[in-house]
Amino acid sequence: EDNLIVLGIETSCDDTAAAVVRSNGDILSQVVSSQADLLAQYGGVAPKMAEEAHSQAIDQVVLEALDKANLTEKDLSAIAVTIGPGLSLCLRVGVQKARKIARNFNLPIVGIHHMEAHALVARLIEQDLQFPFMALLISGGHNLLILAHDLGHYVQLGTTIDDAIGEAYDKTAKWLGLDLRRSGGPAIEELAREGDAKSVNFSIPMKQHKDCNFSYAGLKTQVRLAIESRKIDAKIPISSASCEDRVSRADIAASFQRVAVLHLEERCERAIQWALKIEPSITYLVVSGGVASNQYVRARLDLVVKRNGLQLVCPPPSLCTDNGVMVAWTGIEHFRMGRFDPPPPVDEPEDSV
Ligand code: KG4
Ligand code: ZN
Repeated sequence: EDNLIVLGIETSCDDTAAAVVRSNGDILSQVVSSQADLLAQYGGVAPKMAEEAHSQAIDQVVLEALDKANLTEKDLSAIAVTIGPGLSLCLRVGVQKARKIARNFNLPIVGIHHMEAHALVARLIEQDLQFPFMALLISGGHNLLILAHDLGHYVQLGTTIDDAIGEAYDKTAKWLGLDLRRSGGPAIEELAREGDAKSVNFSIPMKQHKDCNFSYAGLKTQVRLAIESRKIDAKIPISSASCEDRVSRADIAASFQRVAVLHLEERCERAIQWALKIEPSITYLVVSGGVASNQYVRARLDLVVKRNGLQLVCPPPSLCTDNGVMVAWTGIEHFRMGRFDPPPPVDEPEDSV
């Protein structure tokens, strides 16, 4: 039977998201409620506050996802929900909601790994994308290079030894006084277009380590020092900066972005060449996660991938940043293979998760 309809719920970080997806790949609905305003006010994710925001949004987000799909819970085949990695207080809001619906409507539950969902959503976009394939997953908390042999069978080729690239984008944006009501990444991407990427000489991380791991803590420090030495004041928002000040900030944004992405390029090239030796049938590199919505990142990685005889698959931005579709789709992939939990017992207390 392959006419499944799955509701996906995602609350691992700062967005409350839900979506309904059909097993033929149709996205029936997609809803995201962002906490960006809240985060800008407090300068980062505070778990207790994020939990509160998720709790307030979750019922409405799920209801809207079902409404937009023109469905009720009774039409669902299963519920997929992110169970990790992420802030446990936040994850629990999604899991409790999923269990409540599953209990009330006698539906199976599929627990989803957030990073697997970032990778597998590419198979919804690109129907030809068969295993084995490679994936570079780049977000605020993760920097992973993996070889996906099969569903549930992943080999990690590289990870970050400190910060993820998205964290470096976010901090750079904060120190440059950019508008943080949206996340830092898009703000840097935009400002970088005005700057000279060769004007500040940042060094590429881990050049001497001939492996596939990443490091962004050192680059962050280089950026902070450059900002300090140019006397850029983050308290003066970019919108009020003088012309000269703005140019200086744009130069740093562009130079940072160039080197941050050169690091990705170098690691991907090495990983591809290594992986092709053990799995010559690989034809795709997936690039996903929030940072993969960046046009410059996509263009540079496309060159690397083509040069090495592979094809790049990059989901559209709304499916790269955290979303419910990737969770629902990954739920479909697992459900098809018989991997799910039975509906929770009807007498389960509501807050037992
Ligand atoms: O996958 P995601 O939505 O959440 C996590 O799982 O972390 O990724 C969020 C990260 C943030 O660091 C954000 O600044 C970054 O993705 N990001 C970008 C862009 N859009 C989002 N970074 C660079 N350029 C972008 N256009
Ligand atoms: Zn994510």
